[in-house]
Amino acid sequence: MSPVHIASEFDPAADFILWQGDCLDLLAHIPDGFVQLVVTSPPYNLGKAYERRLDLDTYLDQQRRVIEESVRVLDEHGSICWQVGNYVRNGEIIPLDIVLFPIFTSLGLHLRNRIVWHFGHGLHASKRFSGRYEVILWFTKSDQYVFNLDAVRVPQKYPRKKHFKGPKRGQLSGNPLGKNPGDVWEIPNVKANHVEKTIHPCQFPVELIERLVLALTNEGDWVLDPFIGVGTTAIAALMHGRRAIGAEIMPEYVAVARERIRLAEEGKLRIRPMERPVYDPNNRGYVPPKVVTLGGPKQPLLIKDPLSSNSSGA
Ligand SMILES: C[S@@+](CC[C@H](N)C(=O)[O-])C[C@H]1O[C@@H](n2cnc3c(N)ncnc32)[C@H](O)[C@@H]1O
Repeated sequence: MSPVHIASEFDPAADFILWQGDCLDLLAHIPDGFVQLVVTSPPYNLGKAYERRLDLDTYLDQQRRVIEESVRVLDEHGSICWQVGNYVRNGEIIPLDIVLFPIFTSLGLHLRNRIVWHFGHGLHASKRFSGRYEVILWFTKSDQYVFNLDAVRVPQKYPRKKHFKGPKRGQLSGNPLGKNPGDVWEIPNVKANHVEKTIHPCQFPVELIERLVLALTNEGDWVLDPFIGVGTTAIAALMHGRRAIGAEIMPEYVAVARERIRLAEEGKLRIRPMERPVYDPNNRGYVPPKVVTLGGPKQPLLIKDPLSSNSSGA
């Protein structure tokens, strides 16, 4: 595959613009309406190595400035997905999607889904139930927006179920391309034994962003991640023929992002495939780790029937 053109400054001829520095400085260079999708996981104000813990109002003011700029650079038919968990203060949780929601609506955005990302592992709480989900707020800028449902359908629970009476008797009752994935997504988070794990303490899994990229953009579109970390959003975008733009303040994460792209160019970057079931005690339909191919011809989505050896392209 041809090498990925990575630019470190704003350059619309690049495949990937990777800005080392504050996202507001990058955003200032991006023209209005330039990107089709903004998808990010911002700092949660938890005092991680890359953030200074702020009082909640100051944090929300900072987020507002990034969100305002993200909306400015978003195409009229585009989407913005903000993936967040909880801010914790004196043992009390403040769900960030709840406190960020008014910022988005005050900017005229329309909420399409509040997606619950559920995962099986995390910190064990002793004074409350252990947290096992985070949220993605998906907003659009207008009522006319890209939504490629067929690109992200998942296997039907009973793929061979047929109508048993009426004019469609004997025909498949479900969509043979698969079903709508719904708004609760069961996807493992990136912990120590995950194939994608890097030095970053809270990277998101490629498959989480792949689904958003495939559903909410078309080939050639720009995908922006203002807090790009180790480049997960760029990997999801580039492997499906989109272009990526993002900022990261920590030089060591920028270096890892570049290295991941280099490995992908060499066909050596392994990711957990979207098609792999989360828990499969019989190992039926096992899907091994996948090697990333960037920007190549699109693979048909494999809809696997877990009960048979047949599978069909969709
Ligand atoms: C939750 S992490 C995102 C991780 C990313 N989703 C990934 O998979 O690698 C948030 C990232 O934002 C970066 N960051 C914090 N403030 C920033 C700013 N003002 N501009 C750009 N990046 C920033 C942090 O260093 C951190 O890597």
